[in-house]
Amino acid sequence: MSAAKLPDLSHLWMPFTANRQFKANPRLLASAKGMYYTSFDGRQILDGTAGLWCVNAGHCREEIVSAIASQAGVMDYAPGFQLGHPLAFEAATAVAGLMPQGLDRVFFTNSGSESVDTALKIALAYHRARGEAQRTRLIGRERGYHGVGFGGISVGGISPNRKTFSGALLPAVDHLPHTHSLEHNAFTRGQPEWGAHLADELERIIALHDASTIAAVIVEPMAGSTGVLVPPKGYLEKLREITARHGILLIFDEVITAYGRLGEATAAAYFGVTPDLITMAKGVSNAAVPAGAVAVRREVHDAIVNGPQGGIEFFHGYTYSAHPLAAAAVLATLDIYRREDLFARARKLSAAFEEAAHSLKGAPHVIDVRNIGLVAGIELSPREGAPGARAAEAFQKCFDTGLMVRYTGDILAVSPPLIVDENQIGQIFEGIGKVLKEVA
Ligand SMILES: Cc1ncc(COP(=O)(O)O)c(C=O)c1O
Repeated sequence: MSAAKLPDLSHLWMPFTANRQFKANPRLLASAKGMYYTSFDGRQILDGTAGLWCVNAGHCREEIVSAIASQAGVMDYAPGFQLGHPLAFEAATAVAGLMPQGLDRVFFTNSGSESVDTALKIALAYHRARGEAQRTRLIGRERGYHGVGFGGISVGGISPNRKTFSGALLPAVDHLPHTHSLEHNAFTRGQPEWGAHLADELERIIALHDASTIAAVIVEPMAGSTGVLVPPKGYLEKLREITARHGILLIFDEVITAYGRLGEATAAAYFGVTPDLITMAKGVSNAAVPAGAVAVRREVHDAIVNGPQGGIEFFHGYTYSAHPLAAAAVLATLDIYRREDLFARARKLSAAFEEAAHSLKGAPHVIDVRNIGLVAGIELSPREGAPGARAAEAFQKCFDTGLMVRYTGDILAVSPPLIVDENQIGQIFEGIGKVLKEVA
């Protein structure tokens, strides 16, 4: 990297980054188009991760760019409290149109973390509005990632994200066990056969606390950030059945899976399991402008909003909820998904993607490959005494050779934009295979 052109790196405190290591060896991106980034030093980098699981329609799409640019010139900002603007309503209608039947009320946020905290608050407000204010307990899952708000880290199950803040986590939270098992499910293609029974743990938690104290269960239908955990066959169905039977709301955190990652608009549609709330962000605006949303079952919304007349029904919202630029980006993005039939494209490519991913079985260090739709996790054996170091080295070497992947612990994750073609799928997994031969 040319030192002359490098900006001063000292002031920026980077998120979820080893700051000192990064600044000693910066990886800067300068521009992006379609399937590629261009690095600061002018190299083409094939985007194997849709940025951070979010640029599903590919980078710098003209339609989104011009929608944002023209909206910025028409009305840069409009308050969303007690005032509105047409694009906000149109964007909500467009989002509702892609949700499972019944989830047709939409609350806008700016990020996945905000969507999660919003959904948890809606769950509490719903029970309170129905005269069950004692339902305050929230159930998450080990290894779950629900962003970084206090609600999200409380129901989340990734210990480094929690331990520093452990004294300030929400008090009434419990966790289901995670579904990862190399012993039973290594090298599974699609949904594993083993593990549906892990949903029965919810019955144990309910027996412990009593259903009358529990507001909601939140899970990622496909857990992404923890390293791609595909739900076992029948698992989500069981969660749905148990929560419905006990009057507990089920929240699917679809910040990664919406839109199209599994070949349907939502994972709910893909698995045929409809929760009561769906959180989203990332792909809803193709990440071109920060945006997020919660889609809510109409009865849940109505229980809160159609209460006694008189004033604000739900004391929650963000200055930038349905920001005009975000609303413009959402409309343009969802229009691209529809016009280009990108979810069907993801579905069609998923067999070739699966084949290519599983070609890494037998590659050095690989102890598992798992996949669904256009997402794959490649788990490496950890280096003795240095967990995560091997995947970190693989990530760096991939970047050096022009390929962007993600890593978490010793798991590499691949989730390209849905515009990826078969050649590029080949390049991604061949690239990883080559790198693994060089990684100690
Ligand atoms: C399932 C899930 N929930 C929430 C979040 C948090 O989203 P954000 O980083 O936009 O706050 C993420 C981010 O990766 C996620 O994967």
